[in-house]
Amino acid sequence: MNYRHSFHAGNFADVLKHVTLLGLIDAMQRKDKGFLLLDTHAGRGGYLLESSEAQRTGECEGGVCRVVDLRPPEQQPKRQQLSPAPLLRSYVDAVRTFNVATHGDASALRAYPGSPLLAARTLRPQDRLIACELQPTEHKALGEALGPFANARAELRDGYAAVKALMPPVERRALILIDPPFEAQEAEFDAILASVRDALQRLPSAVIAVWFPIKRRAGVQRFLRRAADQPATSVLLAELLVRPDDSPLRMNGSGMLLINPPWQFDQQLAQVMPQLRSLMGENEPTSDLRWLKQAD
Ligand SMILES: C[S@@+](CC[C@H](N)C(=O)[O-])C[C@H]1O[C@@H](n2cnc3c(N)ncnc32)[C@H](O)[C@@H]1O
Repeated sequence: MNYRHSFHAGNFADVLKHVTLLGLIDAMQRKDKGFLLLDTHAGRGGYLLESSEAQRTGECEGGVCRVVDLRPPEQQPKRQQLSPAPLLRSYVDAVRTFNVATHGDASALRAYPGSPLLAARTLRPQDRLIACELQPTEHKALGEALGPFANARAELRDGYAAVKALMPPVERRALILIDPPFEAQEAEFDAILASVRDALQRLPSAVIAVWFPIKRRAGVQRFLRRAADQPATSVLLAELLVRPDDSPLRMNGSGMLLINPPWQFDQQLAQVMPQLRSLMGENEPTSDLRWLKQAD
């Protein structure tokens, strides 16, 4: 296991994933009853955009840096001056307040909150977060990052096994984020789908969000067909390609597969996807939002 998210934090794929995650949490919180948020592949929590890893790839330049510009409006490029959709506004606010909390400064983007920290910072007292991470050094940092949050816990364990062990939760409401490193693409797709089945067997109403990379479209078609066959009420797909998907050598885009998405979540995504495309697109960018399976 060589993957380190520090090289990739805040890239265009993180932006789509985290915009979606915050929207899902918000939708879950429309009901008073608490829920369990299970982050199966959590990473270390917080990332420094000035770290040598982040600087080496510069990936955040094509992602969060285009979306969250903390400079005064007159110094920002034109494309950043659009009126943000509600999901985008929540994301920008979350990244900005995280920078204030960590650096006491809202004028520059220095730090980036990963999924468990974004989640922990939005949970209500009745909600819980369990964040799983398999690499000991990443898990240690995650434990420290989540320390201040009474209802968030970092666990050093396999996230797929955690789905089996922890579903159904006592709350009988769950949001599961599955965001693996995809070191072996086909094997990862198999593991994801097995985990989705495990979760739905134990809690049919579970809301599950799966992130996946797109190099060439052909590489994900079989996965999406199999995802549409899951015993869920509905399956929604949101994809953003920042350039054509014609090269197998690099990540050209990414997608979020949403199983049992909240009511009208498609409409919220419909507002934000074109904005993300225009902010982060490089060369002939495209976005797609469609139901793979829709409730009757
Ligand atoms: C893409 S990163 C996670 C990023 C994080 N979800 C975020 O959005 O900020 C994937 C993480 O999963 C960890 N990992 C790999 N295999 C795992 C497994 N089977 N269970 C739990 N964590 C795993 C890796 O060490 C890595 O930190």
